Amino acid sequence: MADRVRVGVLISGRGSNMASLIAASREADCPYEIVLVASNNPEAAGLAIAQQAGIATFAHPHKGMKRAEFDSMIDGALRSAGVQLIALAGYMRILSAEFITGWQGRILNIHPSLLPLYRGLDTHQRAIEAGDAEAGCSVHVVTPELDDGPVIAQARVPILPGDTPDSLAGRILAEEHRIYPEALAQMARKLR
Ligand code: GAR
Repeated sequence: MADRVRVGVLISGRGSNMASLIAASREADCPYEIVLVASNNPEAAGLAIAQQAGIATFAHPHKGMKRAEFDSMIDGALRSAGVQLIALAGYMRILSAEFITGWQGRILNIHPSLLPLYRGLDTHQRAIEAGDAEAGCSVHVVTPELDDGPVIAQARVPILPGDTPDSLAGRILAEEHRIYPEALAQMARKLR
């Protein structure tokens, strides 16, 4: 397909969501292609997965850099690669308002909770401790407010007796891998 939307993926770690986005992009009718995987962590395991898939990578540690300076470097890498749409996939660094404004409506994030519940960290533990019957994950458009912005996809899983944060995270992760490629494709179709 000639006119696929060019996607840049930002990661900080293992990159399993990124891998699910790459796998989906290999389908013949997928409306997006991943042209760059960038990270604030040169040790991120996901970088090797991207390289093995033949995708260009960019990695630079954020330590010692001002947020605006670091974000502007990432912005430059994304724009040089001709990126049109950004997918945050376990990118564990808050983006500056300037960066987000520069990509208005064109950044998606996957978050392991049923937003608007449990923004921020330790979502699985917080859902268990609250005694919730259900947990899940959400794909949302990124706005300058943390883990805010319109939710475009969500999946629910039960919280089972004896669940630990890890067991719950595993159940939710399987859903993340299912809904994120679908939501990204839906967004890409709108931009085409
Ligand atoms: C995923 O569970 C993702 O939802 C979460 O980090 C994990 C990354 O895993 N993201 C956040 O908590 C963002 N606030 P992955 O690197 O294997 O995709």
